[in-house]
Amino acid sequence: MFVGIDDISFYSSGMYLSLSTLAQHNGENPQKYRLGLGQDRMAVPGPDEDIVTLAADAAWPLVNDENRHRISTVLFATESGIDYSKSAGIYMHRLLGLRDNCRVVELKQACYSATAAVQMACALVMRRPEDQVLVIASDIARYGLGTPGEATQGCGAIALTVKASPGLLAVDPVYGCHSEDVMDFWRPTYMDTAMVDGKYSTLVYLRALLASWKNYQDDGGASFTELARFCYHLPFTRMAEKAHRKLAGAEGERIDEHQLEEKIGPGLLYARQTGNSYSASLYIALISLLENDEEDLAGKRIGLFSYGSGCVGEFFSMVVQPGYQKRSRRSTHLALLENRRELDYEEYARLFLYASPIDGSAHEFPRSAAGRYRLAALEGHKRIYEQTSPGL
Ligand code: HMG
Repeated sequence: MFVGIDDISFYSSGMYLSLSTLAQHNGENPQKYRLGLGQDRMAVPGPDEDIVTLAADAAWPLVNDENRHRISTVLFATESGIDYSKSAGIYMHRLLGLRDNCRVVELKQACYSATAAVQMACALVMRRPEDQVLVIASDIARYGLGTPGEATQGCGAIALTVKASPGLLAVDPVYGCHSEDVMDFWRPTYMDTAMVDGKYSTLVYLRALLASWKNYQDDGGASFTELARFCYHLPFTRMAEKAHRKLAGAEGERIDEHQLEEKIGPGLLYARQTGNSYSASLYIALISLLENDEEDLAGKRIGLFSYGSGCVGEFFSMVVQPGYQKRSRRSTHLALLENRRELDYEEYARLFLYASPIDGSAHEFPRSAAGRYRLAALEGHKRIYEQTSPGL
């Protein structure tokens, strides 16, 4: 029996800031962001959007009357938690009308936790092959106005279903992990923006990549040349270029621009437009690859590197299933990115600084979310979500 990803979709906010606008405001050369970081735009969430609304919007296309009763578990990966106690997945479970007999839990390890969720989901399905597991990764990347990390902000969510005999991707059982206690990026519980040692974080990312790759090889993983495509965690898309060159170098392979574009290019298109979506970003790369690679990838093996600061890295692989194109949501995803509203700098800064009450007083959020779900209000320290219609 093989298990893996049967369906996948993503969602991001309906507003964005062009990185040329940000560069102009910050007195930077726009080429630094466009070429140096490989980013064109960053998705900006409205006050009535959070990890729950982004996640519910990513997940609703995947849940239907045929599979609703089969979803036995929801694994919600995030590092933008809204509550120390209650899983964000519980709100989403209600918004999507999932069955009561369903376990729901939140997972955290920076940008890595979605991959832990995928591996756990595969193990659960191996145990009960009739079940499906809904994996969510939803995050809002915030570093602060005027910080070096600002140009790498963004937001987004993915949802995927894991099942036996999946329609999209079979997940290989081999893997290679690397865990290490480092302070490259973290967010103390009293802060709403991340602390980061930016340059160091890129070095630790690359170190974790090589160590994870070695462990993947030792576990019997596919060789560098056997992998048809590579997807990397994307804090900014240029990081994937650095990572791929590093891996190729370690394997004694020389890669030119054409090979680089072939192996990683189609996977970078969506993240150039959303910015970092932390736990969701590797899977947005995977969606971008499946929807935009012009070659038929059926039967091909893809290598994936998941990285979460702090840190955990994992290199693993998946095999694309025949007929995967029939499940593509390319037109929806392109429309989502193209129909967003552009912000000027002042509006972006106002949204960034928007502060909702923390004293339990009642508060209604202004309407700006473009999706089906929004955070309508706060009341007595409770979050009140609503479904808007018709949404996307
Ligand atoms: P910075 O100091 O603003 O930028 O920080 P820089 O001076 O390093 O420049 C960036 C690149 O632009 C350089 O290229 C420049 O040469 C180039 P490189 O040397 O790296 O090849 N450049 C130009 N290119 C063309 N034309 C120009 C031009 N000017 C400069 N005119 C940094 C960059 C990434 C450090 C910063 O944005 C940051 O701190 N970001 C946040 C941290 C981050 O993204 N780290 C990535 C690895 S850790 C990770 O992925 C985990 C994470 O997702 C969190 C999690 O796990 O939860 C972050």
